[in-house]
Amino acid sequence: MKVFVLGGDGFCGWPCAVNLADSGHDVVIVDNLSRRKIDVDLGVESLTLRAWEQVGGRTMRFVPLDIARDYEPLLELLRTERPEAIVHFAEQRAAPYSMKTSATKRYTVDNNVNGTHNLLAAIVESGLDVHVVHLGTMGVYGYGSHRGATIPEGYLTVEVPQADGSRFSEQILHPTNPGSVYHMTKTLDQLLFFYYNKNDGIRITDLHQGIVWGTNTALTEKDPRLTNRFDYDGDYGTVLNRFLMQAAIGYPLTVHGTGGQTRAFIHIRDSVRCVQLALDNPPSAGEKVKIFNQMTESHRVADLAEKVAALTGARVDHLPNPRNEAIENDLIVDNRCFLELGLQPTTLDDGLLAEVVDVARRWADRCDRSKIPCRSAWTTRQAEAISTGG
Ligand SMILES: NC(=O)c1ccc[n+]([C@@H]2O[C@H](COP(=O)([O-])OP(=O)(O)OC[C@H]3O[C@@H](n4cnc5c(N)ncnc54)[C@H](O)[C@@H]3O)[C@@H](O)[C@H]2O)c1
Repeated sequence: MKVFVLGGDGFCGWPCAVNLADSGHDVVIVDNLSRRKIDVDLGVESLTLRAWEQVGGRTMRFVPLDIARDYEPLLELLRTERPEAIVHFAEQRAAPYSMKTSATKRYTVDNNVNGTHNLLAAIVESGLDVHVVHLGTMGVYGYGSHRGATIPEGYLTVEVPQADGSRFSEQILHPTNPGSVYHMTKTLDQLLFFYYNKNDGIRITDLHQGIVWGTNTALTEKDPRLTNRFDYDGDYGTVLNRFLMQAAIGYPLTVHGTGGQTRAFIHIRDSVRCVQLALDNPPSAGEKVKIFNQMTESHRVADLAEKVAALTGARVDHLPNPRNEAIENDLIVDNRCFLELGLQPTTLDDGLLAEVVDVARRWADRCDRSKIPCRSAWTTRQAEAISTGG
């Protein structure tokens, strides 16, 4: 199958592209390289692709293109290549970055919402029947308002009272409750998918992914040059990968507030596998948007820190929380769809120790300690708390 991987130069997109190429698909990576420094962009990109070919990987092609801005080239690419599936990773994905300034808020909205909309409009204009697999986030459901209820896979069945006292039952998109401008763009994506699926019949799978931890898959482990990114900084690093790096360099683990925030997690290997399962099980013609909760376990941030500390001897520091969020929340998630399709999760208890060792070995000497603290505050109240330290 010919598959476009939009954002295939990224942390999740690259191992996914490599896996799809290895499984025999004809992969075209489309990326504007916005996560790389301009002066080294092209050199680094071609090095990664060359390294993949040097270890015997099946050839992938690369098209530099900004899907949020370059509508006509995107349409032309669809018309000439005629992909059967498109995996869409190509968004600004950091909540702290999206909350830094009005410029980063606007960039995140412009980039993510335009990119997704351009893709959908171009598919309609091209007349192709393409299966779109999108990487969304568990954060669309929000953290804190579920009061012990299990979060279903995308849709909620509600009863609507009528004037005559009767009720009818309906399935609606689960209400959204974004916790940052970044998460808000993912909730807007969800509505765009709903609309284009209803109006134009585009077949879409929206993966509500948890926080990805770990660095490598069996394929990217083949050569150090095949791991193209490990984010540990305050803007782009995700919580568990940050703790792993902090432990590796002897920096106290940075727990925000009480650490009572509960989040959903998935290992990068399972993320890659889930995308493949989604591609292998596309919605049929006329089917509504498929939504999967792409996560394997939930943990409180404080418990994660304790696990990492127990393995490494790291100290845990509680810092003022830069985020405007519930101090504590529960998170009970239905993730049966992927388990029923055969996903066998890599659990934290199985994989954490190997990851601790791997991060220390590969990345610790490249760490810039000044980038570790989170400086991006959600509101002026949080900014003041960070600057006064309490
Ligand atoms: N990393 C996680 O923990 C996580 C969790 C849940 C969901 N996701 C989602 O998965 C996707 C990928 O995340 P990631 O961690 O790999 O991020 P990343 O920043 O490493 O990768 C995103 C890639 O998309 C490209 N990109 C961004 N905007 C683009 C545009 N307009 N045109 C073309 N390319 C563009 C970037 O250059 C980058 O290579 C994102 O949509 C993110 O929201 C990630």
